[in-house]
Amino acid sequence: MSEIGEGIGEEPGKEFAELAARAEKLDAADELAAKRAEFVLDEVVYLDGNSLGALPAKVPGRVEDVVLRQWGRLRIRSWEESGWWTAPERIGDRIAPLVGAAPGQVVVGDSTSVNVFKALVAAVRMAGEGRDEILVDATTFPTDGYIAESAARMTGRTLRPVTPAEVPAALNDRTAAVLLNHVDYRTGRLHDLPSLTAAVHTAGAYAVWDLCHSAGALPVGLDEHGVDLAVGCTYKYLNGGPGSPAYLYVRRDLQDRFDSPLPGWNSHADPFGMRGDFTPADGALRGRVGTPDILSMLALEAALEVWEGVSVEAVRAKSLALTDFFLECVAAHVPEGRVESVTPVAHGERGSQVALRCEGAGDVMKALVERGVVGDFRHPDVLRFGFTPLYVGFADVERAARVLARVLAEVP
Ligand SMILES: Cc1ncc(COP(=O)(O)O)c(C=O)c1O
Repeated sequence: MSEIGEGIGEEPGKEFAELAARAEKLDAADELAAKRAEFVLDEVVYLDGNSLGALPAKVPGRVEDVVLRQWGRLRIRSWEESGWWTAPERIGDRIAPLVGAAPGQVVVGDSTSVNVFKALVAAVRMAGEGRDEILVDATTFPTDGYIAESAARMTGRTLRPVTPAEVPAALNDRTAAVLLNHVDYRTGRLHDLPSLTAAVHTAGAYAVWDLCHSAGALPVGLDEHGVDLAVGCTYKYLNGGPGSPAYLYVRRDLQDRFDSPLPGWNSHADPFGMRGDFTPADGALRGRVGTPDILSMLALEAALEVWEGVSVEAVRAKSLALTDFFLECVAAHVPEGRVESVTPVAHGERGSQVALRCEGAGDVMKALVERGVVGDFRHPDVLRFGFTPLYVGFADVERAARVLARVLAEVP
């Protein structure tokens, strides 16, 4: 059998029956299991929510209303009557509890890349002239590195790439800002946000965190840990849809000093005054730039409703249980030596994905997708599996490992 539903309903071999029975029990006891029904899903085991989250069932109806009624009938009136104008702050406040932020500090808009630029340049400006170095995570998702290089060039600073582990030793009184990823996109390694942020502060510098791979999967604690600035996307664990707008967090006590490198009319204190000189608005909405992308933004707002009544701690507990179980099933099903996990075993160092190094990973992932187990391939040799606790179950995990073993037996 080689099809989308491969592995469903079949008896796993005797040696694996115990894992399948355990998966069933874990699913029965899962307090988040009912959330799956709030998504549009099929028999595919979808382990790519760390790239593009699944579609929440409420989104299509909301988008239809936004297009046909709000835009189609109310037209310009919707900027006020449908709450379009205040959507970036309103939706920011909806994301805030998911990243441990009190209201008034998160604004939604633009892409993560653009928000990295705003946050990093603003951090360097806060640090002042005497500090001439920016540290960037050497293992970062490429866009952060490209933007950091350009930001350094524009602000006349030197950019020094270092691994997160090297950051404490690299900090000194020249450091202006440090740009870090909370979870490594390739390996799934969770970096120690509290202690790295504290080290950055001890050196008198500013910490900018990229939360793309952590928000919606684990507690972040931005306020609790005194993070200065943070950015993240909404199309992964927040399920906002392809290209949904990103967000920017500016800690409350830094907002007056947040000097955006992209001041637009939407971040002006009097946007409709149409003045020639720029006076920044108060609060996080200083992070706004131009006209918000309303269709995507309101799709995201509908998507965020699935978080109603969900605690991030419960999501984290399930995420760790899912990744533990996947590693166990892979160890049981896959012949030794065929794959090697590059994701840390320690819970304190693991995000919500498992990355397996594997020869021929590109072809292996293609075969997995054809058989209804969707993860992704990251150059040069990594199979990446993301576990979104709101819609992935333990039986999915067991099936994914079983199909992976079968594919590896067939792909030389
Ligand atoms: C860690 C990280 N940062 C930034 C980005 C890119 O963000 P965007 O394309 O929304 O600018 C991604 C995309 O996957 C990412 O994983």
